[in-house]
Amino acid sequence: MRKVVAGWRAAGKTVGLVPTMGALHAGHLSLVEATRKAGADHVVVSIFVNPTQFGPNEDLSKYPRQEALDLERLGEVGADLAYLPTVGEIYPDGFATMVVPSGTIVADLEATFRPGHFAGVATVVAKLLIQVAPDIAAFGEKDYQQLLVMRRMARDLDIPCRILPVPTVRDDHGLALSSRNAYLTPEQLAVARRLNKVLGEIARGLMHVEEGNARLLQAGFDAVDYLGLRDAETLDAPVEGRARRVLAVARLGSVRLLDNMAVD
Ligand code: PAJ
Repeated sequence: MRKVVAGWRAAGKTVGLVPTMGALHAGHLSLVEATRKAGADHVVVSIFVNPTQFGPNEDLSKYPRQEALDLERLGEVGADLAYLPTVGEIYPDGFATMVVPSGTIVADLEATFRPGHFAGVATVVAKLLIQVAPDIAAFGEKDYQQLLVMRRMARDLDIPCRILPVPTVRDDHGLALSSRNAYLTPEQLAVARRLNKVLGEIARGLMHVEEGNARLLQAGFDAVDYLGLRDAETLDAPVEGRARRVLAVARLGSVRLLDNMAVD
């Protein structure tokens, strides 16, 4: 991978990186396109199911893996290089250095429900950014808190890479595409499609957060991990005159559905 990328650099080309865990869908593929549109001459897509970002009771072992299909899709959208490191290559024997985010961005939301998750994400992405040394790296707004963590990390660690936010790709019913949607039964899928409706109403100022919470439970969600309005940059409590974001996770069985929207 280094050799190929070094060749591109020597030829004066810019390089983009799209980090993924595979099981690629149209959301991931839109990151490839956005990276190219943002000016990357060549796009590297990494596929690595990162063990350090999964909790002990999460779905690491059953996370969907479909390398051949992923590579085919990457070929179709014209990605230039797929990088699939092994766990041993990313975490060598004796591995003992983590990148641990702190501050308001990781004060709660996903950080509360997935302790250690963002340290795993920041560590693996820092390593990928060091390995590939891209000019641009793309992250989906779907994982909004993750996007903010990445932006903060690049800034704090002086990683000379533009962090490119990419809008969430949704299905015909507005449900944010996610590899984990594949775990849903047809009945659960119908419930799942209510989440973006409720977020949309809150974002347009047509519904209060408390009512949204009740609506999700009425619709058939088993639990709402959180549903909140936050400052769009710090994820702190919203401040008059600054951009806001509504973020939620609602659960259907063991599946956590994550979504968020900009507030009008
Ligand atoms: P993964 O869940 O595979 O997602 C890879 C990238 O695709 C992330 O930036 C995510 O926000 C984006 N993405 C997922 N669904 C999307 C959708 N519907 N629309 C737009 N973008 C979408 O996020 C991770 O992997 C990992 O945490 C990773 C950053 C690769 C580190 O291991």
